[in-house]
Amino acid sequence: MTFKHPRHILVTGGAGFIGSHVCDALLAEGHTVRCMDSLATSRQDNIAHLEGLPEFEFVESDIRSAADCARAAEGVEAVVHLAALGSVPRSIRDPLASHATNLTGFLNMLEAARFEGITRFIYASSSSVYGDSKELPKREAHIGRPLSPYAVTKVTNEVYAQLYTRLHGLDTMGLRFFNVFGERQDPEGPYAAAIPKFIQAFLKHKAPQIHGDGLQSRDFTYVGNVARVIAQALDVRDPRCVGEVFNVAYGARTTLMELVDVLRSELSAIEPAIAQVGVDFVAERAGDIRDSLADISKARELLGYAPTIDLRAGLRKAVPWYVKHWG
Ligand SMILES: NC(=O)c1ccc[n+]([C@@H]2O[C@H](COP(=O)([O-])OP(=O)(O)OC[C@H]3O[C@@H](n4cnc5c(N)ncnc54)[C@H](O)[C@@H]3O)[C@@H](O)[C@H]2O)c1
Repeated sequence: MTFKHPRHILVTGGAGFIGSHVCDALLAEGHTVRCMDSLATSRQDNIAHLEGLPEFEFVESDIRSAADCARAAEGVEAVVHLAALGSVPRSIRDPLASHATNLTGFLNMLEAARFEGITRFIYASSSSVYGDSKELPKREAHIGRPLSPYAVTKVTNEVYAQLYTRLHGLDTMGLRFFNVFGERQDPEGPYAAAIPKFIQAFLKHKAPQIHGDGLQSRDFTYVGNVARVIAQALDVRDPRCVGEVFNVAYGARTTLMELVDVLRSELSAIEPAIAQVGVDFVAERAGDIRDSLADISKARELLGYAPTIDLRAGLRKAVPWYVKHWG
């Protein structure tokens, strides 16, 4: 396996939270990037700093359309497929919408890659595939039963991608992201993730809402670690990586109560009154996993993944962005 460098890379969902960091990382490595996004759950602001660069192109189009996918794939050499509707609760409320984007859209993009003769196809899977498995840490080979339509879409993405590797020789690699956080993650709306929601609540001097007892744990992963491993996966030459899935996490477990304490201490250094803000416990949510912690040894060994930014260091990068944009 040999790859030329730089390459022309399609990033779907490239205007989103993770996608915009991936565009930054790939451009910094000298690649040319076409960013495809329907702006369904993101803002063009996330990529405003890239517009006008000769190596960057933004295409507003929809992965639910096979024709849009085929056009977006024209002339590119590799795909980073991130476009999806996130959020477990959203998928429980509207499974058809999650299915249309996360499954039909995913298959449209695999087909576009096949017909364009693209070799490498890196895609976003999720820790949600571990479902009801109680095993900790989570290892790639043992998944549980899915707890939400969102998880079903991500498990099925993996099955389809692996099939395309066997049937068509497409070099697919799935990355199971675990609770990614960082600058540009949207704190607004009913489907926002915990860290941006908690930061926004603290900045408004309101108690963040915790579903359940707050002792559920997550493996929080700074977005810079994720963007880095995607760039590495695009270049990796080891044939053992092809058709595989990899946990992408930090590899440490933090309860929501511990997270709230770290956030409160970081934010009260900026605004001392935040030290007095408590938390508001509300009912548990259906579909949520209780504990999550990844074994990241497979990605370390095969992709050369080496996350360098832990939760506190990541929050030190992200918090000033929230203070500037949402404070
Ligand atoms: N953030 C996390 O913690 C996390 C965890 C596990 C997996 N993931 C996966 O990572 C990927 C990126 O997630 P994110 O956190 O950046 O979310 P995001 O919502 O910020 O990004 C998703 C992007 O996809 C775009 N999109 C949605 N529907 C589309 C469509 N029909 N056509 C074209 N574009 C469309 C959205 O506009 C958005 O820009 C997703 O596949 C998500 O499921 C994220």
